[in-house]
Amino acid sequence: MAHILSSYTGPVRAVVIGASGGIGQALCAHILAQDALEHLYAFGRSQPAITHDKCTVGQLDYADEASIETAAQAVDRPNLIIVATGMLHNAEGIEPEKSLRDLSADKFAASFLVNTTGPALVAKHFLPLLPREERGVFAALSARVGSISDNGLGGWYAYRAAKAALNMVIRNAAIEMGRRYKQAVIVGLHPGTVDTALSAPFKANVKPEKLFTPEQAGGYLLTVLDGLNAQDSGHCYDWAGTRIQP
Ligand SMILES: NC(=O)c1ccc[n+]([C@@H]2O[C@H](COP(=O)([O-])OP(=O)(O)OC[C@H]3O[C@@H](n4cnc5c(N)ncnc54)[C@H](OP(=O)(O)O)[C@@H]3O)[C@@H](O)[C@H]2O)c1
Repeated sequence: MAHILSSYTGPVRAVVIGASGGIGQALCAHILAQDALEHLYAFGRSQPAITHDKCTVGQLDYADEASIETAAQAVDRPNLIIVATGMLHNAEGIEPEKSLRDLSADKFAASFLVNTTGPALVAKHFLPLLPREERGVFAALSARVGSISDNGLGGWYAYRAAKAALNMVIRNAAIEMGRRYKQAVIVGLHPGTVDTALSAPFKANVKPEKLFTPEQAGGYLLTVLDGLNAQDSGHCYDWAGTRIQP
C-alpha cells in the first residue's frame, strides 16, 4: 500500500491522534509506508509504541486541553490530520447502555469527553495549521451508530449521542474552515467493525467476513480519504467511501 496518498501533489506531513489505539496504530503503519510521507506526528494518551526516523511521538489527554495545545505547537505544517480516538466502554465500568435505566450523567460526560469534546478541541488547535492554498485533510473516526436516520436498534445512548454530536462538530468545522481554506476536506469516518479492544466485547455476534483487521480498516480509510476533495467536506463516510446520512 505504498501509493495510497496519491491525491497530494507534494510531501505529506501527517498527524494521528489516538496512535496508541487499534485503528490508530494501523493508520500509522500505513502512513509510514507511503512514499509521499515527509513526517508523521503520532500522539496517544499513552505513548505510541512507534520507532521510525520519520515519526515523532507524543502524548495528550482530552481531559487536559493544554496537552492538546502543546501537541499542536509541536507539529510542522500538517496536511493530513486523523483523529482515531474514541471510547465505547472502559475499565472504570462504563458499558454501552441497553436501557434508559442504565443512563447516568457521569457516563454521558465520560463518553462525550472522548468521543466529542476531545476531537472538537483537536479541531480547535490543529485545523488552523492546515495549508490555506493546498490540499489539507482532517478526519475524525466516528461511527455509523451516530446516524440518527440509521438507528433502528436503539441502545448505546451515550456513544450514539456523542458520535451524532461529533458529526455536527465536523459539519460546523467544515463550514467555518471552508470559507478560508478552499481545499480543506473535513470529514467523519466509519471504519466498519474492526477487531480492536473497543469492539472486543461485541465481536462474537459479528460474521467473520464483516470483522476487519485494523490493518484492513486502516488501508480502507486512507483510500477513502484519498478520493475525497473539498466538495465532499462536512459529511461522514464509511470504509467503502459511501456517505452516511445523518
Ligand atoms: N473498532 C470498531 O469496531 C469501531 C467501529 C466503529 C467506530 N469505531 C471508532 O474508531 C475509533 C478508533 O477505535 P479503536 O477500535 O481503534 O479503539 P481503541 O483501540 O480502544 O483506541 C481508542 C483510542 O482512544 C484513545 N483515548 C481514549 N481516551 C482518551 C482520552 N481521554 N484522551 C486521549 N485519547 C484517548 C486511546 O488512548 P490510550 O489507549 O492511549 O488510552 C486509544 O488511542 C473510535 O472513534 C471508535 O469509536 C471503531
